[in-house]
Amino acid sequence: MGSSSGSDRLRDLQAFDDTKAGVKGLVDAGVTTIPAIFHHHPLLLDDAEEDADVIPVIDLQADVDRGHLVGQVRAAAQCVGFFQVVNHGIPGELLEEMLAAVRRFNEQPAEGKKAWYSRDSGRRVKFNSNFDLFQSPAANWRDTLLLELTPRPGPAAEEIPPACRGVVGEYVEAVQGLGGALLELLSEALGLPPEYLGGLGGGLATMAAHYYPPCPEPHLTLGTTRHSDPSFLTVLLQESKGLQVLMRQRQRWVDVPPVAGALVVNIGDLLQLVSNDLFRSVEHRVLATTAAAEPRLSVACFFRPDYACTRVYAPVTTTPPPPLYRSTTMPEFLSHYRAKGLDGRSALHHFRIPPPSSPPH
Ligand code: OGA
Ligand code: NI
Repeated sequence: MGSSSGSDRLRDLQAFDDTKAGVKGLVDAGVTTIPAIFHHHPLLLDDAEEDADVIPVIDLQADVDRGHLVGQVRAAAQCVGFFQVVNHGIPGELLEEMLAAVRRFNEQPAEGKKAWYSRDSGRRVKFNSNFDLFQSPAANWRDTLLLELTPRPGPAAEEIPPACRGVVGEYVEAVQGLGGALLELLSEALGLPPEYLGGLGGGLATMAAHYYPPCPEPHLTLGTTRHSDPSFLTVLLQESKGLQVLMRQRQRWVDVPPVAGALVVNIGDLLQLVSNDLFRSVEHRVLATTAAAEPRLSVACFFRPDYACTRVYAPVTTTPPPPLYRSTTMPEFLSHYRAKGLDGRSALHHFRIPPPSSPPH
């Protein structure tokens, strides 16, 4: 982390935010070293080991019976918390168009993006660099266009930046359908009726389109700090490498390799809570893009209840162990997640029921 004092750091964060041009603005200005606000603690920058094929790839159209498919999803959700899906029904051209739209938005002149730059939680469509710029210990080398899609109907066409208009609506609809199918598989994998998790309100709520510009000093910072997602489920479209998952057993990072036409699916914190730890919301991070590489693009779609949903969520336990989490609501969970920022710790700790302390001797 930077060695500047607290007030210098705040001044630097504010000055960066005031440019409204994000990390790409720094790259466009030709920086050859990165500002101290982006320097991460060395422990957060440890290397991944070379590894292949730990993240399962599941073919949703394979000629297997439903029970077999549910079994594959259950194994992936339990052991790894991450999997990729192919033959998911979303045409490859739509994936390409979505990524092209994210590129168009970010690569337009900075002036065109400034009108969208905001930290206003009331805005349903906004662009900014680091949603947690003023909360997290170090900033990430990433800019993000964020769309809040609930309450339905989501943003009207004119609320969406012209560079993405059109394709966003089509992509949202397609991912909504896929997410529904995945939530059915995951419900069945928990031994619950297929409509169970969807019925809890796990629709597509937020879309985050990320842009990770090449970084002159990628070894000092990160594209996204390690975190788990504040969702039931996340469906991620990624174009190139950089995403890594923390394997619990070995405490080491493994790559989630880009697979052409595939989408990455991961379990979020809320599904870990509702499944009482049967499914794992696994920590992941994104490395900063190296200077010689193309910018990295990704689109994360978060399935969760609406922010204002006051429904109470608690572990569904039909069998032991007893509930590991206290119940919570969406406003409580999300405000805890956002206030904390990406600080390398799981938001779930806050909701965990402490184990009974051992009796005094
Ligand atoms: C996220 C996330 C990964 C990526 O948005 O929560 O983990 O590849 N994104 O951008
Ligand atoms: Ni994530």
